[in-house]
Amino acid sequence: MLEIEMKFSVSDFSALEQHMANWRATPQLAIEEADHYFNAPDRDFARTDEAFRLRCIGIQNRITYKGPKQGGLAKTRTEIELALEPGAEAADKWRRLAVALGYRPTAVVKKRRTCYDFQRGGFALQACCDEVESLGRFVEIEIVTNAEQKQRAQDVILQTTRELGLTSSEQRSYLEMVLANLPPLSLGTPGERREIQERSRLTPTITTTVADTRNAIAAARTQGKRIGLVPTMGALHAGHESLIQTARRETDFVVVSIFVNQTQFGPKEDLSRYPRPFDADVALCARANVDLVFQPTPEVMYPASFKTFVEVNEMQNVLCGAARLGHFRGVATVVLKLFNILQPDVAYFGQKDAQQARLLMQMVRDLDVPVELRICPIVRAADGLALSSRNVYLDSEQRRHATVLFRALELIRARIDAGERQAEPLIRAARALIDATPGARVDYVAIVDFGQLQPIERLQGEVLVALAVYFGTTRLIDNMLIDVGHVSNVS
Ligand code: PAJ
Repeated sequence: MLEIEMKFSVSDFSALEQHMANWRATPQLAIEEADHYFNAPDRDFARTDEAFRLRCIGIQNRITYKGPKQGGLAKTRTEIELALEPGAEAADKWRRLAVALGYRPTAVVKKRRTCYDFQRGGFALQACCDEVESLGRFVEIEIVTNAEQKQRAQDVILQTTRELGLTSSEQRSYLEMVLANLPPLSLGTPGERREIQERSRLTPTITTTVADTRNAIAAARTQGKRIGLVPTMGALHAGHESLIQTARRETDFVVVSIFVNQTQFGPKEDLSRYPRPFDADVALCARANVDLVFQPTPEVMYPASFKTFVEVNEMQNVLCGAARLGHFRGVATVVLKLFNILQPDVAYFGQKDAQQARLLMQMVRDLDVPVELRICPIVRAADGLALSSRNVYLDSEQRRHATVLFRALELIRARIDAGERQAEPLIRAARALIDATPGARVDYVAIVDFGQLQPIERLQGEVLVALAVYFGTTRLIDNMLIDVGHVSNVS
């Protein structure tokens, strides 16, 4: 069958609704739809103009293949669509099957769709009013017919759109628009950005096994490329993205690892509920021009026979390590494994997790790991809250009060600026501010020397002000590195 359609951008649906009422077209119930798009293992659908998607309409699931667009004013292409078992579990199973076969998720298009069925010129037509997340409102006029009827169907669609007064024709698919609508990367000249955007239509390679990953890295190495690694646990946000962008600027082959590392979670921590939005993560990697996403399973990283752990003594049990016993042992172990699997030239970490960064620097030095570590600045929301994958756990009130972490750090900085050099009154003031905040519970407020991460009484040189605060069961951290030697107004 052929799908012949025209799409128009509209500011609202009222004119179309009026026409539909006049033509006695019956609206179907509005449906929420999420289209999960994939790219093929053997070719790039963005270039071949094909599309492959898992379509979740309410609880109904379908897979759709769309062939390249054929010529003509109205968009005409081959469409093969197949119903799957309903429900979220079946959708997830199918998604995993596609990924296992090498299909790569590229983007998710979410829309609320209301369709009208009506007759015109001997054809059954459908007008769909789409409210598309992050894109706006569109009307699609569509006929599904056979090849012989193609020309006549196109004429009927053209005539109908004229009668409906639809003028702002949109040639691009929602997928193309979503990919083009991504926030502009902040780096480079307009020409470079265009090139990045063009290239970002290609999705990264995704590997799940050590052997495939090593092969992909070896291929990049034979081309003389320098490898940059950004280790993450997924649920990627602008903080991770800034690390990726730095890696993109400084190295030639950027790898993002996505692995929710169970050995760094305590028994009562949020391992099972940790967010895992893999499609959205891959879409972010695609638009940030990542070359390889390494997404191992727990069995790949920790087979049943696993026995070896890395410990960075002293540093691992202070600050966050005091409340999260075994956490940094898990972090150091998984990061060393990632270094061994990927052998990056440079690895990128965030200052957001200052203790983690410091401890990994120590591990790399102690164990002579041939990798350069780069620590990148903290990315914050406009109100100062440090971005974190765990911020999604906060309800709106907790989110509002969560700015207290940054305000407490600012308070300490202001007092240091004013000449305070004793740690104790600074910590007391910050604690008082947090204690006075509804829903907030201090885990720790500490001032340590950044070299050893040990508490100091009198401030000098480079000090790390670090704190952790609970909102309900959600634990947020933040920190500031202050070079006291360079602060003015010292009394
Ligand atoms: P994750 O929390 O996903 O963070 C991955 C990297 O992103 C870390 O280096 C972290 O410091 C950095 N990051 C997170 N939020 C940031 C922000 N707001 N600004 C700048 N950088 C930010 O940290 C881990 O994962 C894991 O412990 C890991 C190192 C991957 C080992 O499992």
